[in-house]
Amino acid sequence: MRVREGRDRRHLWLSILLALLLALAGCAKGEEETAEGDGRTTPDQDLIVVGVSQIGSESVWRTANTLSIQETFTKENGYLLLFENARQKQENQIKALRSFISQRVDYIVFSPVVEEGWDTVLQEAKEAGIPVIVIDRQVKVRDKSLYVTWIGSDFVYEGRLAGETLEEYLRKEHRQQESIRIVALLGTEGATATIGRAAGFASVAEEHENWLILEQADAEFTTAKGQEEMERLLKKYEDIDVVISQNDDMTFGALAAIEEAGRTAGEDGDILVISFDAVKNALKLVEAGVILADVECNPNQGEYVEKVIRKLERGEAVARLYFVPETVFTKADVAERLLLEDD
Ligand code: AHR
Repeated sequence: MRVREGRDRRHLWLSILLALLLALAGCAKGEEETAEGDGRTTPDQDLIVVGVSQIGSESVWRTANTLSIQETFTKENGYLLLFENARQKQENQIKALRSFISQRVDYIVFSPVVEEGWDTVLQEAKEAGIPVIVIDRQVKVRDKSLYVTWIGSDFVYEGRLAGETLEEYLRKEHRQQESIRIVALLGTEGATATIGRAAGFASVAEEHENWLILEQADAEFTTAKGQEEMERLLKKYEDIDVVISQNDDMTFGALAAIEEAGRTAGEDGDILVISFDAVKNALKLVEAGVILADVECNPNQGEYVEKVIRKLERGEAVARLYFVPETVFTKADVAERLLLEDD
């Protein structure tokens, strides 16, 4: 099989390269290190080498996403994982991708911090014959053949779910005629999650003349920024009815700011908060009635990536896009999910 032959060749090159590096480094033990440089012995020639460039560790969701990858691509499962954390910087991701190319890995998997700016490095991967699998966020490239497939969330759908949940709640409360003043905490600028969720929510908001989006503030998907921006917004706008916070980490910060300002969040409070991700601690706040609804963003993408790699290994065709399953949680239905998450 072509992929297998290519891999065997790449393994040969990888082994030669590693042996040379170790000899140069004066490794006297007579034991070769793995590509991870962690002192373990040479990887089994049958392992599939997967280079993963993760965005960073900005959120609880991201940590879960990383875990899903690390738990999937183990030696027991037949993989050698080369994992790089880009600390939110596109330049670090590009560097990591180039290092995977020079190590001639079998597959490159990466979650792009922003959509633009990947054409050159992906062209280099294509020329090296290394299949690229994009996960979580998307890339905007001129030539779609620069990556094999994308696996992740339907962020526009998530944004719509948030809007429809608010719509449903206001209908139930007979508040359709009331003026609803909304602020949004946005994630990383230029990221698919930010763009998609904002567009999805806007598509519902524009159906309601009484919904007024006061401001959309950049809060970078972090708790610290969420708190800082929410403090600023609370000072700037006297009446805020709804906060749409694009991830749970920003929501935790926003809730702290709301409390500090002497305001209360929740159905019984004066500000409704809708969040995204549905991490455990946020779902507990949904159950407690503090967060009105939390739209799930499924971090468990490792198993889907593995299925795609298995297909490619068998020489089978794969789809251009794979959406992971997701839902929205409200107080009415969150208990069952929390029960599943209990240790
Ligand atoms: O791209 C997915 C988003 O990125 C998650 O909602 C957020 O928590 C993360 O940092």
